[in-house]
Amino acid sequence: MKITVIGSGYVGLVSGICFAKIGHEIVCVDKDESKITKLNSGIIPIFEPGLELLLENSVKAKKISFTTDLKTALKGSNAVFISVGTPQDEDGSADLSHVLAAAKEIAELSDSYKLIITKSTVLAGTGAKIKKLVAQTNPQLDFAVASNPEFLREGAAIDDFMNPDRIVVGVEDQKSAQIFAEIYQAFAAEKLIVTDIVTAELIKYAANSFLATKIAFINEMADLCEVVGGNIKQLSHAIGLDSRIGEKFLNPGPGFGGSCFPKDILALLNVAKENKVDLSVVDSVITSNSSRKVKMTQKISDILEGKIDGKKIALLGLAFKGNTDDIRYSPAIAIAKELLKKGAKISATDPEAIANSRQEFLEFKNIEFFNDAFDAMKDADLIVIATEWDNYRDLDLEKIKHATKSKKILDLRNLYDAKKMKDSGFEYFHVGQKK
Ligand SMILES: NC(=O)c1ccc[n+]([C@@H]2O[C@H](COP(=O)([O-])OP(=O)(O)OC[C@H]3O[C@@H](n4cnc5c(N)ncnc54)[C@H](O)[C@@H]3O)[C@@H](O)[C@H]2O)c1
Repeated sequence: MKITVIGSGYVGLVSGICFAKIGHEIVCVDKDESKITKLNSGIIPIFEPGLELLLENSVKAKKISFTTDLKTALKGSNAVFISVGTPQDEDGSADLSHVLAAAKEIAELSDSYKLIITKSTVLAGTGAKIKKLVAQTNPQLDFAVASNPEFLREGAAIDDFMNPDRIVVGVEDQKSAQIFAEIYQAFAAEKLIVTDIVTAELIKYAANSFLATKIAFINEMADLCEVVGGNIKQLSHAIGLDSRIGEKFLNPGPGFGGSCFPKDILALLNVAKENKVDLSVVDSVITSNSSRKVKMTQKISDILEGKIDGKKIALLGLAFKGNTDDIRYSPAIAIAKELLKKGAKISATDPEAIANSRQEFLEFKNIEFFNDAFDAMKDADLIVIATEWDNYRDLDLEKIKHATKSKKILDLRNLYDAKKMKDSGFEYFHVGQKK
């Protein structure tokens, strides 16, 4: 099937390339000319493991193309995915302007049937808004709207897309359901959950809010362990073995970040507020998560005996999580900024996110970036592991000892065994450790 994908960011690009792999004919569109130029030269503008090779194969098979010209991209396609950004607006609500602009352009430039599908994360009721807008813009157009929220995780995006736990599609008619059945025919039929549009829109927000709640919960358990004792790793492992709870998203740390959780939860809360529905659990997750960066900075201050000013801190990791170059709402960036404001000198490193991070620190002088983690550690008063990159799970401990005199490590991702680190001669601090 010929499919148009509008927006070639993390979601649009992965979806487009994966759809091409399963045999569809894909045209990816983006407004950003530099992105399209790169993609047309086989360069993936984001870091996502495996994506470049998949792109190469799809280009060779002539299954995918990239353009800024939406009109041409729409020709002959029945299904159009909108995968543009839905950033957080100033008041915390989801900014739907890019989604609505894309829908309007589809209406203006289409002359044959279109199933207009939001893959972007959009609030309950957006489908109805799009329907109204498209009908007003082009009353002649034969179209339907649908929702197909995306659950992929950056860093594992291809596997998530190709082996999804479920594929949620919200439709308004049988024809749309049939088109989705064709689009996803390569997947087991029972994966496809067909709902109405509002339910599909809500499922995405509910899933993200629930996962964020798990993280906030285990962080609070870590806080409790820090005071009353107890081993947070054993605690999270043991509760995770309960199949009703599940082991994932139970690692304590510096709080959640990324392009989805923070903005999606705020957007959900906003919609609840507008509709006078009390979501007190979700509300407290935001409060709990916001306090993490302050707590982590306090932890650093305690380790440095209250003297952050002038101290050299090696920051291992800038991305909001491992295996991505995405720094949106990254706790590592937030903590680094707090430390810089308090007079610290930061030597930061990350396997993929340095280029994106530089712009974040333009107003700060005391930060340097290093490609090599051991160069960043040189003469550091404290090493802080802020992102759970695999590269940081198995660092050469002897090499660290040569790089820095202080041998203090704060592991905000609990990647190491505390006893092993102590036995190796480090002053090792982690999340959930009794003070
Ligand atoms: N990143 C994730 O892990 C993830 C996972 C699931 C869902 N989502 C959701 O998917 C959506 C997209 O997220 P993302 O991370 O891919 O965003 P992104 O910022 O990486 O990419 C969005 C792209 O859309 C392009 N764009 C904007 N308006 C356009 C228009 N009118 N025409 C053509 N291109 C346009 C931008 O230039 C950009 O390249 C968001 O709603 C997000 O919440 C993201």
